[in-house]
Amino acid sequence: MSDRRVAVVGATGAVGRKMIEILGQRNFPLAELRVLASARSTGQVVETQWGDIEVENLELADPFGIDIALFSAGGDRSRAFAPRFVAAGAVVIDNSSAFRRDPQVPLVVAGVNDHVVGSHQGIIANPNCTTMALMMAAGPLHREARIERLTVSSYQSVSGSGQAGMSELGRQVGLLAPDGEGLVEGTWDDPGGNLYVSPIAFNVIPFAGSETEEGYTDEEWKLVNETRKILDDDQILVEPTCVRVPVMVGHGVSASMFFGRSMSREEAIDILRHAPGLELWTERVPTPLDATGRDVVLAGRVRPTLGETGGINLWVVGDNLRKGAALNAVQIAELIS
Ligand SMILES: NC(=O)c1ccc[n+]([C@@H]2O[C@H](COP(=O)([O-])OP(=O)(O)OC[C@H]3O[C@@H](n4cnc5c(N)ncnc54)[C@H](OP(=O)(O)O)[C@@H]3O)[C@@H](O)[C@H]2O)c1
Repeated sequence: MSDRRVAVVGATGAVGRKMIEILGQRNFPLAELRVLASARSTGQVVETQWGDIEVENLELADPFGIDIALFSAGGDRSRAFAPRFVAAGAVVIDNSSAFRRDPQVPLVVAGVNDHVVGSHQGIIANPNCTTMALMMAAGPLHREARIERLTVSSYQSVSGSGQAGMSELGRQVGLLAPDGEGLVEGTWDDPGGNLYVSPIAFNVIPFAGSETEEGYTDEEWKLVNETRKILDDDQILVEPTCVRVPVMVGHGVSASMFFGRSMSREEAIDILRHAPGLELWTERVPTPLDATGRDVVLAGRVRPTLGETGGINLWVVGDNLRKGAALNAVQIAELIS
């Protein structure tokens, strides 16, 4: 790998900060690191292991000279600025949903479908964080026995909504925690907040994202469309429900899978034990707290289906800011370097 000039766009955000941290942890061969965000952050200094770097205003920055741009500043910024970066010679690895469904843009889960990365025409998309965790287990199982049907429920942490989500949970916990009686009796005071449709502290909200078609949220459609694209099979039937839970970091996914043939629990365990980037837990139950700060996605509770036999029920959980976003983006950067 030759040394690369890298830009992190959205460098002050939850994912952008992790990208900078992970570039350092993985000793990514950097010739230069530029950090960009909105006018709000321009001039702020980001501390990195390569020294303090001043935040540039994305609107005004000249992308010339950047080899790889890791975009993590929301879909609107990706749509507006990624083509300009590509025209200036950069490869853009985009964390937003802006290009994920574009047939010209590879959607890559490092360790699962690395082979598609070479077909890029300047932009490579990073999948959504929930789909990413699921794919780490579903990819290897699909390769062996072709998944035909998936019923999926996600348990998504508030950091999936960025810094704002983490602040909201912290604030609401601070307000509601002292009112133990109110939480038991149902007389709690509304802690306010407009990020989610209900308070998230001490609660579970079976509605992650925003409503789109047929009563499903955009997060649920991402699970359907991105699963099909990553596994390269438009026929896979996906039944998604995305739930927001009062967890800081770590998205969990419960999935029932049915294949083109029967799969035993033993076979699934054997496949998952050898899956790259996945750690199978058989003695303990992996939780978001266990997954936080880890690069691997954790899998557990592998069971044979009961009603209709021949399928597999399992649980996966991964750090949505790391493998779910920043780590995978850096791994893609490694694949193209
Ligand atoms: N959080 C996750 O688990 C996750 C996982 C996968 C993908 N993603 C995607 O990654 C992106 C960032 O998510 P996040 O969780 O890091 O959000 P975040 O914490 O809210 O950070 C947003 C970042 O975007 C920048 N930004 C916002 N408006 C901008 C503008 N007009 N011009 C330039 N920069 C602007 C912000 O800069 P300022 O600080 O200057 O406002 C900040 O650096 C989103 O597209 C999200 O969907 C997130």
